[in-house]
Amino acid sequence: MNPEEVKSAILGIGMAVPEKILTNFDLEKMVETSDKWITERTGIKERRILKDEENITEFAIKAGKEAMEKAGVSPEEIRLIICATVTPEYLIPSMAVLVQDGIGAKNAGAFDLSATCSGFLYGVSIADQFVKNNPKWKILVIGAEALSRKTNWKDRTICVLLGDGAGAVVVGKSPDPEKRGILDFTLGADGSYWELLTLKGGGSCFPPFDPRLPQEEYYIKMKGREVFKVATRMMEKLSFEILQRNGFSPENVSLVVPHQANLRIIEYLRERLGLPREKVYVNINKYGNTSAASIPLALYEAEKEGKLKPGDLVLLVAFGGGFTFGSMLLKW
Ligand code: ACO
Repeated sequence: MNPEEVKSAILGIGMAVPEKILTNFDLEKMVETSDKWITERTGIKERRILKDEENITEFAIKAGKEAMEKAGVSPEEIRLIICATVTPEYLIPSMAVLVQDGIGAKNAGAFDLSATCSGFLYGVSIADQFVKNNPKWKILVIGAEALSRKTNWKDRTICVLLGDGAGAVVVGKSPDPEKRGILDFTLGADGSYWELLTLKGGGSCFPPFDPRLPQEEYYIKMKGREVFKVATRMMEKLSFEILQRNGFSPENVSLVVPHQANLRIIEYLRERLGLPREKVYVNINKYGNTSAASIPLALYEAEKEGKLKPGDLVLLVAFGGGFTFGSMLLKW
């Protein structure tokens, strides 16, 4: 590596999830489903759900504060806040400006980023580029979702899958670029599949209460089976491509942290990579699919459980509605 070259790294990580737990058994009482079906088809046992009086931004702020504390960075040092979310508290203002105010980041720009489940990887990739150009910058990237607020609790094809939560990282110049930092990333999209996963109501196409739009379009809808097929293929392709491009093979990876959409998708990826279970992190059983929050929640818990150590080679890979997708290779 050129010694002049700046490498960015994740300097600190935080998370916050609502206390309220919704189990598969609770869902059995709400829709025609069963703990057995949900467990076998998705790997999910329970998910966190906001209480009526709670808002996801407060969890984003809490996660952000923890990440800053761990990074040893003050609010004034944060120069940019990126909130990856498809469920901001409001459309105007953005979640990111509410976080900016909530943490007192007086010197930060702030914006929301909409890229569904790949949003966190998109956000960290943007932060990486900013740090390379401005090595003194510290950037807060948050993935935070209140998917329960956009869930049709009568639609069993979607309500068993989703959950709420927030994860955050501070990205800044790597203090030890040989051993720690972001090595590479890929961002991708294929909008030709847009109709497989939608939330139409609340956008600018249909004004509020437009009689042309059925009520269920105010909630997330997914053609799960079709999404599943592309997701499995794409997660595998992204993983092999980024490893090969950087001269690594799967066995060099200490931990794969995939987006947590379905345990079967994760298991398929693990088998294709030829890795043992302990090398692919899973916490979907506890949180369900939290979209942009899923990877930072998984990274946080992996570190807490001692599965991520300084210098470890880590592969992140995500796929979501749009479609959007992304991968990242880093040394922890
Ligand atoms: N409980 C019981 N039965 C159900 C339920 C439920 N909750 N939901 C569907 N079923 C039934 C279906 O009606 C169907 O019955 P049928 O065979 O009589 O028609 C049967 O179960 C099988 O349904 P499938 O949709 O084929 O089930 P599948 O095995 O594909 O699992 C799932 C569905 C979990 C949604 C899966 O397809 C999936 O995980 N898809 C990908 C999700 C994903 O990666 N999303 C992208 C990110 S999300 C984001 O961006 C917000």
